[in-house]
Amino acid sequence: MSQKINGVKGMNDLLPGEIEVWQFVESTARTLFGRFGYGEVRTPMVEDTALFVRSVGEETDIVGKEMYTFEDKGGRSLSLRPEGTAPAARAYIEHSVSNQEPVSRWFYMGPMFRYERMKTGRYRQFYQIGAEAYGAREPAQDAELMDVVVQFLEALGLTDVTLNINSLGDDNCRPAYHAKLVEYLNAHREELCADCQQRLERNPLRVLDCKNEKCQAVAAAGPNVLEFLCEPCRAHFTDLQRKLGVLGIKYVVNHRLVRGLDYYTRTVFEFIASHPALGTASTVGGGGRYDKMMKGLGGPDVPAVGFAMGLDRLVLLLKEGGKTFTQRPDLFIAVADEGSQDAGLALASRLRREGLKVDFDTRGGSLKSQMKRADKSGARFTLVLGEQERQSGQAKLKPMAGGEPIPVALDSVAATVRAQPEAPAAAPAS
Ligand code: HAM
Repeated sequence: MSQKINGVKGMNDLLPGEIEVWQFVESTARTLFGRFGYGEVRTPMVEDTALFVRSVGEETDIVGKEMYTFEDKGGRSLSLRPEGTAPAARAYIEHSVSNQEPVSRWFYMGPMFRYERMKTGRYRQFYQIGAEAYGAREPAQDAELMDVVVQFLEALGLTDVTLNINSLGDDNCRPAYHAKLVEYLNAHREELCADCQQRLERNPLRVLDCKNEKCQAVAAAGPNVLEFLCEPCRAHFTDLQRKLGVLGIKYVVNHRLVRGLDYYTRTVFEFIASHPALGTASTVGGGGRYDKMMKGLGGPDVPAVGFAMGLDRLVLLLKEGGKTFTQRPDLFIAVADEGSQDAGLALASRLRREGLKVDFDTRGGSLKSQMKRADKSGARFTLVLGEQERQSGQAKLKPMAGGEPIPVALDSVAATVRAQPEAPAAAPAS
């Protein structure tokens, strides 16, 4: 026997029955981003490796350890995108978008790839929904972007999520903070976990969000980045908070929020859910301002701010909510005899054209077995089509949740089904 081939570890299949909740999140995002004037952008799954090295940063875990990098047949180093911000910026620069309009608002959704240690809510192919606003330096843009996320989460019905904000300063004030942090962490080196002792050399900011309790205690007592902000950065952060107040958005200031990507300047933020279903993967989304990235990638001096949400994690939370997202059929058509099979096929086709969701078993079989399938399908009504119905042009709609059959003319099935008030779904047989 041939050996079975499995999917790649950390990369999941999404099958019908499960995909509906994903489609709900995606369509909610499209509607909402549209309201805020964000247009969709689709970039390739693969980019020049240098794009991520120069934006996300060589010393980050994402670029240093987690990228799927390979050489193509032409000897170029390419990487599966680990995130969407750098590819969108690359496209923005490549298409000279800043010459065409001063402010651009884009969103994207799709798979990202990181070779991470897997657990609940952390995968190697995962999905992000993100948005980027280019061209506005003002705190109002940061606030508007957070408002998009807040309204998106509201529309999904996810309310148990906390917005954390921080400012990482800019090239003017961050070096002093950085130096102080390194000095402090070096003095507490022995108390840090092995990973953090390495981080201290390569990317000391990352020590601040280590999950190890001892490291957290060291970080908590360390220098506070907000006390190092220069005047313009402080004013930006203060005004942002005022604007969040204007919008009625609740937040907490968390001076240890640093994020795992190197491109941020000033504002950073994360949306953290408190549901146990996510375990330690509780950050459902995050983002921040990256005013230097465009120039660093050889583009114009255009400021930007953006975020990305983890679709897999939003789906985990929604599934916990117990809501169903699958749309049940309006009608199951069963045929009473083999001679009615063609008429059943044609009736199903016509009713679908008329807009009904119709289930019909193309295998035929006994009426009893078809009725079992009708039960399992969760359809609202079943219509049995036999010789008598075909001759008289009259049939009955059997409500699957119970109740009296409803007489119906075969040429007005769609209208009759639509006229019936929605009853609770018949529990599908398992
Ligand atoms: P990030 O924090 O690396 O930011 O990812 C954003 C979100 O993607 C996370 O909060 C999480 O929900 C989800 N995520 C990340 N890694 C995984 C994984 N392995 N499995 C499942 N979900 C995951 C960015 O990617 C930035 N590009 C965000 C941004 C946009 N900043 C500015 N603009």
